[in-house]
Amino acid sequence: MKWLDEIHVMGKCSLSGEIFIQGSKNAALPMMAASLMHRGRSVLKGCPRISDVFCMEEVLKSLGAVTWWEDHDLYLDCSDADGTEIPETYTRRMRSSIILLGPVLSRNKKCRIGYPGGCIIGKRPIDLHLMALGTLGADISEQTFYLDAECSRFQGKDIYFTKSSVGATQQAILAAVMAQGVTKLHNCAKEPEVFWLCRYLRSMGALIKGEETKEIMITGIRELGPGNYTIPPDRIVAGTYLCAAAATRSEITLRNVPEQELQAFLEVYQKIGGQYQANGGTLEVNGKRAVQPIALVETKNYPGFPTDLQAPLMAVLTGAQGRSSIRENIFDQRFGSAFQMNKMGADIKIDGNQAVICGGRPLTGTQVQAGDLRGGAALIIAALMAEGETCITEAELINRGYEHICEDLQALGCRIWQAGSRGFEEL
Ligand code: UD1
Repeated sequence: MKWLDEIHVMGKCSLSGEIFIQGSKNAALPMMAASLMHRGRSVLKGCPRISDVFCMEEVLKSLGAVTWWEDHDLYLDCSDADGTEIPETYTRRMRSSIILLGPVLSRNKKCRIGYPGGCIIGKRPIDLHLMALGTLGADISEQTFYLDAECSRFQGKDIYFTKSSVGATQQAILAAVMAQGVTKLHNCAKEPEVFWLCRYLRSMGALIKGEETKEIMITGIRELGPGNYTIPPDRIVAGTYLCAAAATRSEITLRNVPEQELQAFLEVYQKIGGQYQANGGTLEVNGKRAVQPIALVETKNYPGFPTDLQAPLMAVLTGAQGRSSIRENIFDQRFGSAFQMNKMGADIKIDGNQAVICGGRPLTGTQVQAGDLRGGAALIIAALMAEGETCITEAELINRGYEHICEDLQALGCRIWQAGSRGFEEL
């Protein structure tokens, strides 16, 4: 894997060609955690080769799993994954490592885990995760630097989520599949990554009903069988490339697109002038008539507009002649990239959870800093529109979720390269 911490982009380019969309990060990570609960070998096919997946792989190895790759198929042999400690060195690198707490407890009955880190996009508490596991019978004590948890076999219960949380819903599902008795989850997150996890677990023998609804019922079983599953395509990566096409007024083809999962985004895309034609997983994208301003886009839980595409869309809207606004309803500090885009000449004003974008100001390449994964991708999109060269620092954050964003954009005709401690290297 390339581990270069800067991305350089020459702007004012036009894109053409096609891209195959990678497997979904947010589907792969909980499935990797689920694989821990089978005492044997599982395989996740079409797994994205990104740093978050590598980090989760390292954690599983530290617990005793043996893992290997065959091209994009990730094999996980968890026969001897009896470890119970997940140190902070891993958890602060990747917030979603908290998802392992339930599976480790379910399998090994105790777990010491560092507090989660990850992208800086506001407060990201884990109270709902702990509430769910506590309700199922875990005894959890919060220490200064880590959590200590233990339990005997989880006991099925009713769990009410006060807020829709993807991670906490997945956590509860993972803990419940091998619990004694029936667990009913109320007010679950309905994001596709929840039902993909359920489908994977069901393929391992789990008994789960209602996985596309807010009420999920799980009947616990003693053992899970081996997993063998293909990771679905990444809706956020697909949306990012749609944004790149709109920003550069380009026509591109995207293959392996989960179009159904992108409906809310695609509606907005059409409103700002983007066009596309869908044909069984392939999108012919035409951004030539983009970009019109849009009065208000609000991020919402699925099936609403995804928070992960908020920053990429904002970058696109800096190129619209007129005023647009975006309201961020999921995370409380997810406008970090706006300040970086302003350094490039954009006019974005932030007021609480609302951003007003006065589009049409010319952007100029300069040095900007990625603050989080999707915000970093947004800076690449802004850089595609800018005059001259943009240098994005802390770009390794982008590698957390995009397998080969530089290679993809270069294949589409953009001058983009990575640089860093190993020197200057055009791809
Ligand atoms: C997942 C995705 C992330 C996406 C987010 C929302 C993964 C690895 N990450 O993150 O890309 O942006 O869903 O679609 O799948 N909350 C609490 N208490 C908790 C947990 C969450 O209050 O215990 C709050 C959060 O602060 C946030 C909201 O619930 O305001 C939604 O967060 P959640 O759905 O849990 O996001 P993640 O699962 O962390």
